[in-house]
Amino acid sequence: MVPVEVLESLAAEMVDYQKTGLSLVEVSHRGEVYGKVHLETIALIRELMGVPEDYSILLLGGGATLQFSMLPMNLLPIGKSADYINSGAWARKAIDEARKVGRVNVIYDGASENYINLPDPKSIKPSPGAAYLHITTNETIGGLQWKSFPEFRDVPLAADMSSDILSRPIDVSRFGLIYAGAQKNLGPAGVTVVIIQNELLSGISENIGSYLSYSMHAKANSLYNTPPVFPIWGMKLVLEDVKRRGGAAAVARANTQKAAKLYEAIDSSRGFYRCPVNRAFRSDMNVVWRLRNEALEAEFVEASANAGLIGLKGHRSVGGCRASIYNALKEEGVDRLITFMADFSAKNG
Ligand SMILES: Cc1ncc(COP(=O)(O)O)c(C=O)c1O
Repeated sequence: MVPVEVLESLAAEMVDYQKTGLSLVEVSHRGEVYGKVHLETIALIRELMGVPEDYSILLLGGGATLQFSMLPMNLLPIGKSADYINSGAWARKAIDEARKVGRVNVIYDGASENYINLPDPKSIKPSPGAAYLHITTNETIGGLQWKSFPEFRDVPLAADMSSDILSRPIDVSRFGLIYAGAQKNLGPAGVTVVIIQNELLSGISENIGSYLSYSMHAKANSLYNTPPVFPIWGMKLVLEDVKRRGGAAAVARANTQKAAKLYEAIDSSRGFYRCPVNRAFRSDMNVVWRLRNEALEAEFVEASANAGLIGLKGHRSVGGCRASIYNALKEEGVDRLITFMADFSAKNG
């Protein structure tokens, strides 16, 4: 979801941006009007996420999917290896792409338990000489979320935060690199945020394609080529909305409250609904559940859609049900879902 106020602002200013007589999607990306939007967006990310000064913030195209390849292309030099934690469908994609670039060690594999657990961050020991260690902070399909993060002295932590960026305060200084597609919590699809510690930029090979190089984008302040202007504009409005709401801490409080209510409804259903994920790692963003009678799941999804609750079908690869309750979803939305779930179980229990 994108906050409705943001959609309304985009619509209101689509044709004539701030009385310039032009749409923002028509002006030059090197001109003053867009330049201001670009810089303000980066400044808002820095402010709201507390990004230290020795980190660069990049606004790129290609989605988080491109980062699965770009990260090893930049930070996995020939002859070295990188560590990955396999926590589910998205981590697996990151691993598969990294393997096309270099040597990968999967140092924790949640597959044997069907991805219901994560490792204790304190127990994680990176491989000697690992170029970086990659985690997926929130598994969007599996409904699994890291609640605290490992900390290493010598091995940079790289994180795919696509589905929980800015959903809670994060100590960015614990990470070497963070990436996230915008379309879950930050705005319209089409822009990917990369936050990288400047120290890591210096080791990047010059023999990779220019667009694929973090250092190229950092030097050009993400204006190496034409940036995705429209989604950046949308992101700026979403970031302003987060700031008005009180920032990451305030948003996190609302998110925790929404998720706790929904998990409570599942857990108190006497087994009619069941969340497969270990309680310690249940996601505040993507709540997944099964019905005791799995044959009823299709009926549940259809009936919920008829009641105006859209998109509750679990990902096609895992089935079941899933509610994505990102930042912009109001608590009333969760309350409506809970009421629907209670009615459905009363009728079918
Ligand atoms: C955790 C995670 N990583 C990566 C991706 C892929 O993102 P994109 O579609 O921006 O390439 C997604 C998309 O849902 C995701 O949830």
